[in-house]
Amino acid sequence: MDVRNNPWIMPFVIFICFSLKPHVSLGADTISANSSLSGDQTIVSAGKVFELGFFKPGNSSNYYIGMWYYRDKVSTQTMVWVANRETPVSDRFSSELRISDGNLALFNESKILIWSTNLSSSRSSSVEAVLGNDGNLVLRDGSNPSLSPLWQSFDFPADTWLPGAKVGLSKINNRNTRLISWKSKDNPAPGLFSLELDPNQSQYLIYWKSSIQYWTSGPWNGQIFSLVPEMRLNYIYNFSYVSNANESYFTYSMYNSTVISRFVMDNGGQIQQLTWLESTKAWFLFWSQPKTQCEVYAYCGAFGSCNAKSQPFCHCLRGFKPQSTGDWYSEVFSGGCERATNLQCGNSSVVNGKSDRFFPSYNMKLPANPRIVTAGSARECESTCLKNCSCTAYAFDGGQCSAWSGELLNMQQISDGTDGKSIYIRLAASEFSSSENNKAIVIGGVVGSVVIVSLLALVLFIFLRRRKTVKMGKAVEGSLMAFGYRDLQNATKNFSEKLGGGGFGSVFKGVLPDTSVIAVKKLESISQGEKQFRSEVSTIGTIQHVNLVRLRGFCSEGNKKLLVYDYMPNGSLDSLLFSEKNTKVLDWKTRYSIALGTARGLNYLHEKCRDCIIHCDIKPENILLDAQFCPKVADFGLAKLVGRDFSRVLTTMRGTRGYLAPEWISGVATPAKADVYSYGMMIFEVVSGRRNSEQSEDGKVKFFPSYVANQINQEYGDILSLLDHRLEGDADLEELTRVCKVACWCIQDEETQRPSMGHVVQILEGVVSVNPPPTPRCLQVFDSQENIIFFTESSSSQSSQAQSHTSTASTQTKNTTSNKSPKS
Ligand SMILES: *[C@@H]1O[C@H](CO)[C@@H](O)[C@H](O)[C@H]1NC(C)=O
Ligand SMILES: *[C@@H]1O[C@H](CO)[C@@H](O)[C@H](O)[C@H]1NC(C)=O
Ligand SMILES: *[C@@H]1O[C@H](CO)[C@@H](O)[C@H](O)[C@H]1NC(C)=O
Ligand SMILES: *[C@@H]1O[C@H](CO)[C@@H](O)[C@H](O)[C@H]1NC(C)=O
Ligand SMILES: *[C@@H]1O[C@H](CO)[C@@H](O)[C@H](O)[C@H]1NC(C)=O
Ligand SMILES: *[C@@H]1O[C@H](CO)[C@@H](O)[C@H](O)[C@H]1NC(C)=O
Ligand SMILES: *[C@@H]1O[C@H](CO)[C@@H](O)[C@H](O)[C@H]1NC(C)=O
Ligand SMILES: *[C@@H]1O[C@H](CO)[C@@H](O)[C@H](O)[C@H]1NC(C)=O
Ligand SMILES: *[C@@H]1O[C@H](CO)[C@@H](O)[C@H](O)[C@H]1NC(C)=O
Ligand SMILES: *[C@@H]1O[C@H](CO)[C@@H](O)[C@H](O)[C@H]1NC(C)=O
Repeated sequence: MDVRNNPWIMPFVIFICFSLKPHVSLGADTISANSSLSGDQTIVSAGKVFELGFFKPGNSSNYYIGMWYYRDKVSTQTMVWVANRETPVSDRFSSELRISDGNLALFNESKILIWSTNLSSSRSSSVEAVLGNDGNLVLRDGSNPSLSPLWQSFDFPADTWLPGAKVGLSKINNRNTRLISWKSKDNPAPGLFSLELDPNQSQYLIYWKSSIQYWTSGPWNGQIFSLVPEMRLNYIYNFSYVSNANESYFTYSMYNSTVISRFVMDNGGQIQQLTWLESTKAWFLFWSQPKTQCEVYAYCGAFGSCNAKSQPFCHCLRGFKPQSTGDWYSEVFSGGCERATNLQCGNSSVVNGKSDRFFPSYNMKLPANPRIVTAGSARECESTCLKNCSCTAYAFDGGQCSAWSGELLNMQQISDGTDGKSIYIRLAASEFSSSENNKAIVIGGVVGSVVIVSLLALVLFIFLRRRKTVKMGKAVEGSLMAFGYRDLQNATKNFSEKLGGGGFGSVFKGVLPDTSVIAVKKLESISQGEKQFRSEVSTIGTIQHVNLVRLRGFCSEGNKKLLVYDYMPNGSLDSLLFSEKNTKVLDWKTRYSIALGTARGLNYLHEKCRDCIIHCDIKPENILLDAQFCPKVADFGLAKLVGRDFSRVLTTMRGTRGYLAPEWISGVATPAKADVYSYGMMIFEVVSGRRNSEQSEDGKVKFFPSYVANQINQEYGDILSLLDHRLEGDADLEELTRVCKVACWCIQDEETQRPSMGHVVQILEGVVSVNPPPTPRCLQVFDSQENIIFFTESSSSQSSQAQSHTSTASTQTKNTTSNKSPKS
């Protein structure tokens, strides 16, 4: 990949170069009257948590005073506060941050004051600025530090809300402490979007240009914001609301104070909650609102249209072009679009010119601020608009004529559903005769969507048929053995041979009197009553499939709850894949059959969804192998049995292992598709024989799925390089490619883009073929050669590769006849 040809890579390059530059710490957390900050000098909080000094954002040539996490805490420099947002300096060595006249003040190259804490009354020379471990820069009287701060950066946040800070309103001085987004990644100046507390209610609002409110959290009920129901799953952030005579605000803390997390009003108009994952050395996007980028007001600017199903999300309407191509390429869309050809209307120098005409756009969400015009018919509506030169568009819907003048803002292309409207946009007549190409694209788009719709219908049809078959086939109730505790104690020689300690309890090997070998799982912390436990267990007992570990029986005596499974002599997949001790390397044929078998097992679980058996914890540790290396999915159904809610999964941060689908965080996951995600992540490890986020020898962060996505999308990508090197290239290249493609599809950010498990089975069986997958948004491929991979901090920056594959979300049927007879 050529870095120069890739517009979004440049900022990263500079970003990285900068973060490698050493900072000269003053060795203190304080700027006092006799010290100052200039050039590379920084101050660091006492506990080495935050650092403050000059920084240069992105590819900007300007310097700002900023605060970031100390490099031992967060290795990619991440700004949490900026002082002089609007008044940068260009030479940091001749600029100076110091105490002046009782204030902390920044002087530029010509020694002119350009930023100050702005306290009016002059104070003693003992004033000092101290950087706290919470990220609060406090100006205080050094001779009496216990007095309340004279000034603190927590009262003047930039775009970031750190734990312990308040966002709200002060009734004493009418100060509105709010988050204001950066203008762009390169420019920390106040941007378009702000998060503020509603003065009338305990709720948050997000504004566009401080005037149009486009998102609300809904009022706080003491536990959650009413319109953010997923907060129920929140075991990470301790939110609280305070309202008294002086102020009303929200604040939050981390239940686990070692977790590094921040809230950001992103420059794309979404509020994001990010957590640093040391294992991947990246920020993990936990949650964001509004949910989709297109819900951000006027995200695509004037005459731009937002389409959630395309990348980039923004397009100019027909007849318009980006106002600033540079901005557009760096994914700053708010500048919007301008006319390619001026209108004739109102131009007196056009004498015999043809009049303007209207170009229809279908399936749109109509722009903001319509004007209702009286018109009895669509034709009348059109002619009224045509006659008025300031009328830029009209729509006639439900007998009502709406007209717009000037810029059209907040338009959306609706790709599904039926509530899309048609809008007619005024263009110069010459726009209509010009290009046939556009037409071809439009038709192509229509044909494309027809194909996709038909495919979806087909998939749905198959799905429904399957469900039916399964239902009819389901007859035998499980014949589970009820064991006594003593029996199991004897069988396992008093639980002496431990096989493993899974998520729900330890597992022990045992031998029954009839010499059959068993695995006994001692469940921990069962919250259910006897009856419920038995009914849950018997449900699990009815689920039998060659690729699922069979439950043979159970024991329930008081609070002793045990489950008895078939013993799997070849242990779990992780030990076979990753263990150094294991001399036998799984060959390709076995790996492929493990991928396929696991998919079949999961498919069976998903399709038999009568009781909604969703695994929710797919990882190599939970795939067991029998004597013939046939894979068996283990531990299904236990989440429900143990009464463990998924938020607990979040708190234990299993996501750090990289199998947890991103939508779990928002609490609105379709569990089956979350399983598909985890399956995909696991398949990468089956291919490579390594953990996905393994550290390479030279210390660079590797994230294998990104590397795969990159190779798969290159015309001459080195597919064999993806294979476990211990196999020395001994694999079926077609199978390898297929598996890698499927895995990439499985980990798409959008649940709807991920295939179903049934679909995965068909692909791996070779019944249907698979299109090249787009690079998932969360995998930002930095440089394929170096294999240095970064996660994005913001969902608004997309991989460039994804752009060329926007309409390939669905796999194509190679052999339609075989589709008519789904296997079960
Ligand atoms: C600055 O002044 C403080 C007391 O006001 C003193 O403790 C400190 O040593 C001084 N630092 C330098 C570098 O002179
Ligand atoms: C750097 O950012 C500016 C806007 O801040 C943009 O105009 C310019 O094209 C960018 N340069 C590169 C090389 O990406
Ligand atoms: C310093 O700031 C002043 C006031 O904003 C400005 O006029 C001057 O050009 C700046 N000096 C330099 C070297 O940028
Ligand atoms: C300080 O006050 C000046 C003049 O009142 C104002 O222009 C400037 O924005 C203020 N700076 C801060 C950081 O509040
Ligand atoms: C708060 O109430 C006042 C007075 O009723 C109203 O003018 C204002 O628009 C309200 N603010 C919001 C954000 O709803
Ligand atoms: C949550 O925050 C409130 C207010 O700051 C505090 O009183 C409470 O102890 C916190 N709870 C936990 C579990 O940390
Ligand atoms: C409100 O502010 C006043 C004066 O600043 C202070 O005395 C009082 O304790 C404050 N009240 C609360 C509830 O914080
Ligand atoms: C807090 O999180 C860290 C990992 O960030 C973990 O090691 C630790 O056990 C957690 N503490 C608690 C009390 O959950
Ligand atoms: C009016 O039309 C003339 C000729 O087409 C063109 O050169 C001129 O730019 C137009 N003026 C405006 C204001 O659109
Ligand atoms: C033309 O449109 C403008 C803006 O919508 C409106 O104010 C004006 O009344 C319209 N003129 C006529 C003649 O309808």
